[in-house]
Amino acid sequence: MKSPYRMSRRQSLQWLGAGGSVLAASGLISGCKPAAESSKPGGPEAEAGESPAAVADGQRRMQWWHAARFGMFIHWGLYSVYGHHEWAMEMEGIPVAEYEQLAAKFKPQPNAARAWAKLAKQAGQKYMVMTTKHHEGFCNWDTKLTNYCAAKQGPGRDLVAEFVEAARAEGLRVGFYYSLMDWHHPDGARCATDLAARQRFVAYTHGLIEELMTNYGKIDVLWYDVDWPLDAQGWQSEKMNQMVFKLQPDIIVNNRNGLPGDFSTPEQEIRAEKAGRAWETCMTMNDSWGYQRADDNWKTLKVLIGNLITCAQGGGNYLLNIGPKGDGSVPEESIQRLTAMGKWMDKQGPTIYETERSQVRESVMADFTRKGNTLYVHVGNWPGSTVAIAGLKTKATAAKMFPSGQKVAFQQEEFRLQLTGLPEKAPEHPVTTIEVAFDSEPIQDMLRVREDRPRRGVGV
Ligand code: GLC
Repeated sequence: MKSPYRMSRRQSLQWLGAGGSVLAASGLISGCKPAAESSKPGGPEAEAGESPAAVADGQRRMQWWHAARFGMFIHWGLYSVYGHHEWAMEMEGIPVAEYEQLAAKFKPQPNAARAWAKLAKQAGQKYMVMTTKHHEGFCNWDTKLTNYCAAKQGPGRDLVAEFVEAARAEGLRVGFYYSLMDWHHPDGARCATDLAARQRFVAYTHGLIEELMTNYGKIDVLWYDVDWPLDAQGWQSEKMNQMVFKLQPDIIVNNRNGLPGDFSTPEQEIRAEKAGRAWETCMTMNDSWGYQRADDNWKTLKVLIGNLITCAQGGGNYLLNIGPKGDGSVPEESIQRLTAMGKWMDKQGPTIYETERSQVRESVMADFTRKGNTLYVHVGNWPGSTVAIAGLKTKATAAKMFPSGQKVAFQQEEFRLQLTGLPEKAPEHPVTTIEVAFDSEPIQDMLRVREDRPRRGVGV
């Protein structure tokens, strides 16, 4: 949580199988364990004890989000001025009185969020989630409950209002990140042991969330974070969610206030939930959420696009972070990557949006997304004239390049599908997509390939 999240893609792509076991991931990074699990359509499933009406309501609220697949996370606060990562206050042991001085220096350009929203739109992202209050405790909006907020400090205005307006202007859905943990408020830690402090701090927390849910029109996502030092009971999280749904009947909430909420939030790793449970991987482009000047460990375009595909393959979303500077400008490295992702998405969007979980996932050259009986083969490691996929139990009926529609020849044997006559060099960078139609939902069984592929008698 606090240390830099250095993780190779191989480590980061994991599947939580139906039985709860972690299976190796597929695609560009290759798994070696056979997979035989069958897919179920994505979408929220009943939490234990949920009524059919609650399940139906969840499905209604989650519909746009499942179709969206790709969102922008924005970490912005006083740490953006300091430029040492959003955990700087704690990781450098900065006294509260000293850290507070950043509030006067936070002087963002007016409407910085408009450029973020344009960038998100152009990248193909369908929603934005911004930090309204991170662990540092500074509120980015005009709250009546503390002076430690944007309207009464350096910015002199409501940055949440600007963000909402900017996202809406681009037709993007709006999400609020809110950290329950608070390093600044006098009751933020002692609430763990002091009952009076807890009552004050829980009332303060509910009050801030109530303002966010009341003053900015329709909000689409509430993204809680770190519930230290209390549990769901201590935070009165049931009551919190009830208040949120009363004020925002269409909103969806995540699982970080101690309750399951509508979706899970694997962080810095791609871990598909069991079929039926919604999930969203949030990830940084380097290793920091908040602006960290010195962090140059940027992911490549190929990794970022591969991650987006892998999330869609598992029926999940990809919430990709930017950490704007104190003035609101976005680091050039992030702009370049999002712009390039957008160019790819301009062509390949239909193979990502509205896709369903794909049971087919084993390859060392490709990742897969699916719509009904159509499989999109996303080839990142282009092999030359033939792309082969093992273990498909379903019959292929047609193949073509996406989006050009140029026909692709294919031959299917019992254990192998070969897409042939392809160019020697990858037609698209960093990932080329081939669309393959099947006579039913494509299913892959790698165990069969290992066990049943005929052996020859030599040397026996
Ligand atoms: C962790 C970190 C936090 C970041 C968040 C994003 O909880 O503490 O800095 O905002 O993850 O998922």
